[in-house]
Amino acid sequence: WTPDELSQDILNWYDRNARSMPWRIGPKERTTGTAPDPYRVWMSEIMLQQTTVAAVVSYFERFTRRWPTVSALAAAQDTDVMGEWAGLGYYARARNLLKCARVIVTEYDGVFPDTYDELLTLPGVGPYTAAAVASIAFDRPETVLDGNVERVMSRLHDIHTPLPGVKPELKRLAGDLTPNARPGDYAQAVMDLGATICTPKSPACGLCPWRLPCKARKTGTAPELPRKTPK
Ligand code: ADE
Repeated sequence: WTPDELSQDILNWYDRNARSMPWRIGPKERTTGTAPDPYRVWMSEIMLQQTTVAAVVSYFERFTRRWPTVSALAAAQDTDVMGEWAGLGYYARARNLLKCARVIVTEYDGVFPDTYDELLTLPGVGPYTAAAVASIAFDRPETVLDGNVERVMSRLHDIHTPLPGVKPELKRLAGDLTPNARPGDYAQAVMDLGATICTPKSPACGLCPWRLPCKARKTGTAPELPRKTPK
């Protein structure tokens, strides 16, 4: 299997099975090249860092209804933002959210920067979020590595070296498969695959678009991967 065949297979699966989320664009827009709003992508990725999709949805709806643009959020009172965040936890995320919105307005004229390196300089934006926003909102072929991607890559390539040491190798493998066209959909496809099919216990390998190329499926080790260094 070539990287092109692998990324095509998962993109075709995504086109039929993408989970609907309020920060995602619909199937029509996806195939006509419409890009999602960077402000909404950024906010969703900050909220999703330590919180599940199910818990984030209603918070995301309330935030974006109350503050529809990054300029509106930058002008908000700190106490109002902290109040809307109440219940999501990890409150440093909310303080950085507001700080970042104000930097975008004062330093970038209210327009999100569109490269990984510039995004990485923003408050609260680390390698994961910079890669997610650059690929999903700006079509840059950056590599997103989260727990789902780690699990999928370790299984596809049957890698038994434990986390966290193996992270750089998993990032390289995920990067080798990142296509130049639709890199954001590819990233979200791998995340959806990890969340719905390539799950930690009893993965549904029979439904997986990568069931044939998957090396761990062949050897029967998928449920044991990724391995972790004991604490
Ligand atoms: N988890 C974090 N970001 C995500 C996204 N864009 N799609 C699905 N799951 C995610």
